Amino acid sequence: MSFKELPLTPELHDYVLSHSTPVDEIAAELIAETRTVVAGHASMQVAPEQAAFLRMLTSLLGVRHAVEVGTFTGLSALSIARGLADGGKLVCFDISEQFTRLAHRYWERAGVDDRIDLRLGRAAERIKELPDEPYLDLVFIDADKGGYVTYWNELVPRVRPGGVILVDNTLWSGRVVDPRSESDRFITGFNEVARNDPRVELVILPIADGLTIARRLP
Ligand SMILES: C[S@@+](CC[C@H](N)C(=O)[O-])C[C@H]1O[C@@H](n2cnc3c(N)ncnc32)[C@H](O)[C@@H]1O
Repeated sequence: MSFKELPLTPELHDYVLSHSTPVDEIAAELIAETRTVVAGHASMQVAPEQAAFLRMLTSLLGVRHAVEVGTFTGLSALSIARGLADGGKLVCFDISEQFTRLAHRYWERAGVDDRIDLRLGRAAERIKELPDEPYLDLVFIDADKGGYVTYWNELVPRVRPGGVILVDNTLWSGRVVDPRSESDRFITGFNEVARNDPRVELVILPIADGLTIARRLP
């Protein structure tokens, strides 16, 4: 098998960022405030290039119905909400009131607060409140890794044929090739479930910590 090797050095990553559309002032301030207010957890936030990708993909797909599992301080939700088609809605699930408090302020500033319906609590339970039919255009999974298989199994049947499921951290800092810890195995276990799922076709994009993009087949 042939492969094309492209090690993403810090210099090359800087180049990627400086030659992609930059995040705007609101997103930049959200990134900065997250680093200050919840400093110990800031690495949970999606990378700026993922934020740009989420917005672009949402817009390309003409998304009207989206779901996010794992909202934190709101950057990925902000990006998805900004890409929604007119009248589109994003339902967000997160367990933490503390993390998501920050999100509302930035969603309001960006004028997207009315497109986002944040539901607090354990996502595995709250997801069941969603209509039990294939109506979703886009799903983004980025919460507790031990819940990934549950979220996948709940959400794939709710995605319309042609709709897209994105799953973050699926390369897990490269540890997927030599899993040692429980969290490593959460990700490798999930990746096995996803790649053996006949309802989708998928690619793991080596962007940030690995982003799986799956398309629900007809
Ligand atoms: C990696 S962060 C999400 C980052 C976010 N997508 C962003 O761009 O900033 C994971 C989030 O999952 C939430 N979470 C953890 N366990 C959860 C659970 N059982 N149900 C719902 N949310 C959960 C955490 O509170 C945290 O905000």
